[in-house]
Amino acid sequence: MPATSALAYTADIAEATRPIYERVKRVIPAVEWPFHAPLVHEINRLKRERNAVILAHNYQTPEIFHGVADIVGDSLALAAKATQTDADVIVLAGVHFMAETAKLLNPAKTVLIPDTGAGCSLAESITAADVRLLRERYPGVPVVAYVNTSAEVKAEVDICCTSGNAVEVVESLGTPRVIMLPDEYLAKYVATQTSVEIIAWKGHCEVHERFTGDEIREFRGRFDELVVIAHPECPPDVLEAADFVGSTARMVDFVADRRPPRVLMVTECSMSDNVAAASPETEFVRPCNLCPHMKKITLANILESLRTLEPQVSIAPEVAERARRSVERMLAVKPR
Ligand code: 13P
Ligand code: SF4
Repeated sequence: MPATSALAYTADIAEATRPIYERVKRVIPAVEWPFHAPLVHEINRLKRERNAVILAHNYQTPEIFHGVADIVGDSLALAAKATQTDADVIVLAGVHFMAETAKLLNPAKTVLIPDTGAGCSLAESITAADVRLLRERYPGVPVVAYVNTSAEVKAEVDICCTSGNAVEVVESLGTPRVIMLPDEYLAKYVATQTSVEIIAWKGHCEVHERFTGDEIREFRGRFDELVVIAHPECPPDVLEAADFVGSTARMVDFVADRRPPRVLMVTECSMSDNVAAASPETEFVRPCNLCPHMKKITLANILESLRTLEPQVSIAPEVAERARRSVERMLAVKPR
């Protein structure tokens, strides 16, 4: 098997990867494709050999998202589709909590995360012990955990949610108050959409917390007809300045359905590239905040992971059983 450095851009590989390049040519310069194509080609070959699928989050770079992924989407779609695969091996091109969720839902499969350092500032903001203290402080109040949490935290809560179903999940509990953790801004946004009282934790996404309402207004001043769509992990003043608020999947659908002439996607930077590749009629204005964790996943480490079947995600059985229940309860909540 050739080492990554020995993979060459041959005429055969150029020909075989041409249809893939056609999909990404608006966002990957032609001069860069010879570096990606041999890796893309070898990963797709090895996937078949290993009976593997690659699940990629919307924040992955276009060469991963359009080049090697079998299933793409937001956290909710990845969790739901992880339950539907017949593959023996799942490679999670995303961050660690997503790979843990895939493992919870597929305990018998090999789940790989190409870089175990791909974390998340939200997941790191809360521990299982913190949840136990919250329960002591608010006895009887149900706890909803954003999927951006560790399996240990999921094991302590009543139900999970994502940014795509948070309001439905909160209302499904039928109580006047819920604790929602760890994202303070998502919790505040949900509180604007429901009459349920929300008790929030003070975790933040290190990518979305950097946007400001002033920055959005400045972009509006510079670009005519700008449609601003924002992720609910952004601070409240950003969401107030936006035309639409939704999960990454809802943002994708918004652009596909409305086809606005000019869009500012207030979220991680690669997402605009991935949507732009498929939306030639829309101009994307890019305030480029990158997630350093998402960017730890590369074609090179995906290939290495498929070759070695490492690093594998494992979760202690006593934690996994309780955490799985929280994720499965979420998946049972009907979308609106
Ligand atoms: P989505 O659930 O909208 O995909 O966002 C989750 C997220 O922030 C991934 O980092
Ligand atoms: Fe976590 Fe924010 Fe990165 Fe998403 S974008 S993985 S919420 S740090």
